[in-house]
Amino acid sequence: MSKNAAELEKAQSINEIAVDGFDHIEFYVGNALQACYYYHHGFGFDLVGYRGLETGDRTKVSYVLKQDHVYLILTGSLNATSDVAEHVHQHGDGVKAVGFRVRDAKGAYETAIARGAKCVGKPVEHKDEHGTFISASVQTYGQTVHTFVQRADYKGAFMPGFTAIHEKKGKSLGLAAIDHVVGNVEVDNLETWVKYYQDVFGFYVYQYFDASDISTQYSALVSKVMANKSASIKMPLNEPAEGKRKSQIQEYLDYYTAPGVQHIAIATRDIIATVGELRKRGIEFLTVPQSYYDELPARVGAIDEDLSKLAALGILVDRESDGYLLQIFTKPVQDRPTLFFEVIQRKGAKGFGKGNFQALFESIERDQAKRGNL
Ligand code: FE2
Repeated sequence: MSKNAAELEKAQSINEIAVDGFDHIEFYVGNALQACYYYHHGFGFDLVGYRGLETGDRTKVSYVLKQDHVYLILTGSLNATSDVAEHVHQHGDGVKAVGFRVRDAKGAYETAIARGAKCVGKPVEHKDEHGTFISASVQTYGQTVHTFVQRADYKGAFMPGFTAIHEKKGKSLGLAAIDHVVGNVEVDNLETWVKYYQDVFGFYVYQYFDASDISTQYSALVSKVMANKSASIKMPLNEPAEGKRKSQIQEYLDYYTAPGVQHIAIATRDIIATVGELRKRGIEFLTVPQSYYDELPARVGAIDEDLSKLAALGILVDRESDGYLLQIFTKPVQDRPTLFFEVIQRKGAKGFGKGNFQALFESIERDQAKRGNL
């Protein structure tokens, strides 16, 4: 039995909290208005909802952005003392909540609490003329939370309390769905968090990587991917491993000052078109040397895409037994070297681009060295 099958069997003995998929990602940011401009114009999201002073919210302001199945919420503070202000003060701009879409938010919450999760927000039923929306939140790594969202009976803009916006359509760049959300946790704490996702949510170890898979001369990491059985939720967890110099995971932890979300991977059906347009709009990506593309045909074999187009855009390719995947990583999207995005197109492959880790780490380290953090 493979290790994955063994883990799956084990997980099946724990009743999994039924999660349909990612619902949304909420960011706490220093200036939600300007962050909104970045995701609307840079990434092509529609601005679909707003909450703030005009809607009676006196302490926070939020913008909801949507592209196909991806919802992002950008929340800023209207004062110096809100939890948003405190979060931004500690961590800079970053992810506060990873929403899980469920059919029964109260049930999911009660199960999670009974299994040891810490409460962040008890179930609340929000109602307006568009229907009923139920949400509840539990703590995960660092100050990050998981919000259970039950929205099957809600037809309005995002959730009650938000006013719908219709005139701010972005030009869709093909960003279709959240593929996975990666967290960085403290050194020697990976197993604690793996156990947390197993015990509380009933998730299982979908894949794992150790330092022999992911290491360069300087940095190394250990990673385990937690997933639900349908694999609609995939959450890799990284911890720094021993290297000659500072691991990129440690650099993140130093600047975020806590565990947190390291990257959000968004799936597209045409990565060449998506990345071409993102680049035109000024979104910056990590680069790999031309030698990566010289070696690519021997490493991945025949692929449908034109290699010269991939090289021009800096898109990476990895082959696995079931197919291949194409992926690319942005540079950090805020002042601190913390959160970044990945754009991914899967053509059969179910993994995370292990074959690219080496090239990628070297690219990250080049930038880390420029920041004086290597
Ligand atoms: Fe990733």
